[in-house]
Amino acid sequence: MTIAARDRLIVALDLPSTEAARGLISKLGDAVSFYKIGYQLGFAGGLEFAGELIGQGKQVFIDLKLHDIGNTVEKGVESIAKIGATFLTVHAYPQTMKAAVTGRGGSKLKILAVTVLTSYDDKDLRDAGYASPVSELVKRRAEQARDIGVDGLVCSPEEAAALRSVAAGKMMLVTPGIRPAGAAAGDQKRIMTPAKAIGAGADYLVVGRPITEAADPKAAARSIVEEIAQVAK
Ligand code: C5P
Repeated sequence: MTIAARDRLIVALDLPSTEAARGLISKLGDAVSFYKIGYQLGFAGGLEFAGELIGQGKQVFIDLKLHDIGNTVEKGVESIAKIGATFLTVHAYPQTMKAAVTGRGGSKLKILAVTVLTSYDDKDLRDAGYASPVSELVKRRAEQARDIGVDGLVCSPEEAAALRSVAAGKMMLVTPGIRPAGAAAGDQKRIMTPAKAIGAGADYLVVGRPITEAADPKAAARSIVEEIAQVAK
């Protein structure tokens, strides 16, 4: 299925309030169709706000990275599916992923697994009690996600090329860490331009500050969509 270039751009609503989110969304207008709600807005009225956005025909990615006992994950995912969200993140632990896939059932909600948080390096994993380096754990968890029937992975643009072969048409890849040429990196260490990330195999791009902090957010979003359109099949 081909995805329109505009629908491949997910704007991260990393904002403190629904008022701030409403302001940004009205500036973006029809340039953006897909929004991500994470911890900051999610715990400040963002879940009710997600329902409002969906009612306006937008798609919503709930980025709450769930992880708990299976029964709790399954029931939580059922509730998020009822809101009408399109994507939801969970941590890539087999029990958690199985419960999330059961919870989403036949709804339109797609489960995305976070393999290893991109802020973790090999030392952080050792400190947390893991013996594998990041690269091995990412691959292992990606394979588990695929075998469990998870719908997609969140990964850095650099990981996308390697994970493409694990996903092999069964899982989509969603990548943050996107910076148009010339944009400030901020705290992101491994960045790629929109065109390069799509070329590396990303299906969806999550973009925050290059749009939310732009002098003209709509123009910034439009130029990213145009860049995607030039390379996406
Ligand atoms: O502002 P920026 O474009 O860096 O925002 C990227 C978004 O993607 C943020 O919401 C951030 O939390 C999220 N994200 C990330 N890296 C990950 C997972 C999620 O930057 N590995």
